[in-house]
Amino acid sequence: MKDYLSKDPWKIVEDGFHPEHNKVTESIFSLGNGMMGHRGTFEETYTGETLQGNYIAGVYYPDKTIVGWWKNGYPEYFAKVLNSANWIGVDIKIGDVQLDLNQAKVLSFRRCLNMKEGILSRNVLLSINGYEFKIHSERFCSYDQKETGWLKYNIKSRNYTGPIEIKSFVDFDVRNQDSNYDEDFWDKHCQHIDRDWGHVFCKTKKTDFKVCVGMMNKLSLNGELIDNKDTEQIDECVSHVYRLDIKEKDIISLEKCAAVMSNYHHGIVKLTDECQKLLDEAYTDGYDTCRLNHIAKWDEKWQESDIVIDGDVSAQQGIRFNIFHLNQTYTGDDARLNIGPKGFTGEKYGGSTYWDTEAYCLPFYLSTADQKVARNLLIYRYKHLSKAIENAEKLGFNKGAALYPMVTINGEECHNEWEITFEEIHRNGAIAYAIYDYIRYTADSEYLLQYGLEVLIGIARFWAQRVNWSDHRGKYVILGVTGPNEYENNVNNNWYTNYLAVWCLRYTIQCIKDLQDIESKVLDQLFQKCTFDYDVEISKWTHIIENMYYPYDEGRQVYLQQDGYLDKELIPVSELEESDQPINQNWSWDKILRSCYIKQADTLQGLYFFEDDFSLEEHKRHFHFYEPLTVHESSLSPCVHSILASRINDRDKAYEMYLRTSRLDLDDYNNDTEDGLHITSMAGTWMTITKGFAGMRIKKGELHFTPHCPALWNEFSFTIKYKNQDLKITIQKSNVNLNNLGPHNVKVFVYGNKLIVPGRQSINEGY
Ligand code: BGC
Repeated sequence: MKDYLSKDPWKIVEDGFHPEHNKVTESIFSLGNGMMGHRGTFEETYTGETLQGNYIAGVYYPDKTIVGWWKNGYPEYFAKVLNSANWIGVDIKIGDVQLDLNQAKVLSFRRCLNMKEGILSRNVLLSINGYEFKIHSERFCSYDQKETGWLKYNIKSRNYTGPIEIKSFVDFDVRNQDSNYDEDFWDKHCQHIDRDWGHVFCKTKKTDFKVCVGMMNKLSLNGELIDNKDTEQIDECVSHVYRLDIKEKDIISLEKCAAVMSNYHHGIVKLTDECQKLLDEAYTDGYDTCRLNHIAKWDEKWQESDIVIDGDVSAQQGIRFNIFHLNQTYTGDDARLNIGPKGFTGEKYGGSTYWDTEAYCLPFYLSTADQKVARNLLIYRYKHLSKAIENAEKLGFNKGAALYPMVTINGEECHNEWEITFEEIHRNGAIAYAIYDYIRYTADSEYLLQYGLEVLIGIARFWAQRVNWSDHRGKYVILGVTGPNEYENNVNNNWYTNYLAVWCLRYTIQCIKDLQDIESKVLDQLFQKCTFDYDVEISKWTHIIENMYYPYDEGRQVYLQQDGYLDKELIPVSELEESDQPINQNWSWDKILRSCYIKQADTLQGLYFFEDDFSLEEHKRHFHFYEPLTVHESSLSPCVHSILASRINDRDKAYEMYLRTSRLDLDDYNNDTEDGLHITSMAGTWMTITKGFAGMRIKKGELHFTPHCPALWNEFSFTIKYKNQDLKITIQKSNVNLNNLGPHNVKVFVYGNKLIVPGRQSINEGY
C-alpha cells in the first residue's frame, strides 16, 4: 500500500517529488481520449525510473509467440499495443547542462491530475548549479478533437542569466519494453521538418499500420513571440530548437500542438497532408480555445457519468478516478475498438480484449453513455464471429460452433498458455451474458435479430459440442477446464462453467422463441444463413439443459467449485502468514494449484450473474464458504464480492471490498500499478456503488433499487441513462430521491414498492 498522493474530490496530487514511485505515478497520471493516450511521463529528459508509453487505439503488432513447448492450436502471435511517437518531448539545456529532474536539485514539486478537466499539470522549482528555475507545464489529449494533443510549457529563470536551449520534438525512435524478440516494431516511412511544422511518419512491420505524428510550436519570451528557431532532425526524430539568451525573471512560454493520425482511422488518404491540415486548424484555434473545448467535452461526460459521494473524500476521489479512466479508455465511437485491461496506461496485457469487457465493463457504458456505446462493444464481437468459428474449428469443433478467444485484438486468439487458451472457455459464456445484459436494459430487439442471435447460436453450438455424456453419472459433464479462478487448472465440472453453458443454451432458445413470434421471416433467413437445424439442435440443447451435472455438497449445501474441491485442505486466508501473500508472488505454481485458495470470484461469479436463480440463504451460504478462501489476487475480484456482500447485507464487508477496488491503483494495493492501471476492474468499482450500495437491477424489464448508504457517507448520487432519458438517484441514510431529468414518466421500484416518477420531477421515498 502506498499513501503519497493527497486526497481531493476532483484532483490527484503528488505534493513533493517521489522518484521512488515515479512509474506508479506515471500510470496514475495517464491521459487518453479513446483514440490515443499516454503515460504521465515528464516532458524533459529523465534519467530516473520511467516507462515511456504513447499508444494509439487499434494500432498493434503481432509479436511472434514465444513458448517452451509448442502445442497444436497455439496462436502464432500475441498482439501488442504499440509504443508510438513521443509527442510531448521538450528538452531544456541551461548553458551546457541538460535539465533532468533526476540530476537537478528539486526544491519544490507538485504534479496534479485534474479529473474534472482532463488536464495534467506540474509545478517544479529546481536548482541547477545554484541557478533556480520554475517550471509550469500542462497538457491534455483533446476530448474534443481526438487526434490532437496540446502542451503548454513555461520556464522562468529566477536568478540565471545566460544561454538556454529549448528543443521541442516528436520522437518516433521508440520500442516496447515488453517484446518477445526485442524487435523494433516500426519502420520509418518519411519525416520532415520546416519552420512551420514537423512530422515523422512510420509504418508497423507486418501489420502495415501507418502513423503520422506532427507538431507545431509557438514560443514567446516575456509574452513576445520569438520567431527565431532552428530545425533539426535525426533518424525518426524532428525538432524545433530555440536558442535564447535570458536574464533573471525572464519567462519562456512554449505552446505545442500535436496531431496523431493513423490509417486505421483514415483509410487510404495522404496522412501527411491530413496531419498538416489538422494541425493548421488546431493551431489557428489556439491553445486556449482548444483547451476550453476539451474541458467542455469533459464537462458533458461528467454530467452523464459522475458519482457524487458526500462525507468521504477518499471514497469520492477513488470513484472519480475510476470513472475518469474508463471514459479516457473507451468512448464507443468505433466498433472495431475495445477495452484493454490496461487501457492507454501500460503495455501489459498487450492492449487486447478479455472477457473483462463483457463481464465487468459493459454495465458502466450501458448506464452512463448513449446506447450505441454499449451496442458497439457487442458489435465488436459480432464482427469477430467468423474468427471465433475458425478458432473453434482449429480446436476440433465444427458446424458453426464459435469459441471466442481469451485474448484478442482482431478476433484471433493471442493467448498461448494451454490451460487458459484451450480451457478457460467460460469467456464464451460472458459474451452471451453481455448480450442478455444489454437486451434486458435496452430491449433492442433489432440488435438481437441483426447481430446478437447469430453470436448466441455460435456460442450455444460450442457448448453443445463441448459437453460430453457420462455413462457413469448419467449426466452431461464438462471436462478439462479452467474457471475464472486461474489458481486451478484442468479441472472437471467447474460449477460456474457448467451452469453458464446451460444458461447460454436456455437463453439462446428463449431468444429464438421470442423472436419467432414477432420476426419469423427474418429469423428464417438467419437460420438459413447459419444452416440451423431447428428441431435437431433445439432438442439436443434441451436434453443438455435437463441433464447437466453440477458438483454439490449435501452436507454444506453448497455447489462445489469443481469435482474434488473438498479434498483440499480448507484453511481460510486469514490463517495464512502475511509473508505468504500474495501467494502468486511467494508460492510455487504447484503449491498454488494444490491449495484451496481462490484467485477471484468463481462459484460466486455464477451467483452474481444469476442471482434470481438462488435464494438469499443460498447466497449467504456460498459467500460464507468461498469468500474466506479467496485471496482476491485478481483486480476483478473485490468488486464482485462487494456487490454480493451488499446483497446479503454484510455492509462492512461490502465497504471493505469497495475501498479495495476503488483505490486499488491509487494506493497501489497489489504493488503492480507501475505496469499500468487496472482499467477493467474500474468498471467493477462503478458497479459496487450502483449495483451494490444502490442495489440497482433490471428485473422483467423494470428498474429496481434496494439501497443502503455506507455508514461513513452522508449520501451519494449518480445519474443513469434509462429508456432514453436521464434519471438522477440520490441515496441518503433512509431516503431515496429520484429525479427524472427527462420528459417522460419513469416507473421505478424501491424495495419492491412501485413508484412513478413524472417527467422533469423528483420524488422522495423513505426506506
Ligand atoms: C484474471 C482474468 C482477467 C485478466 C485480465 C487475470 O489476472 O484472472 O480473469 O481476464 O487478468 O484482466
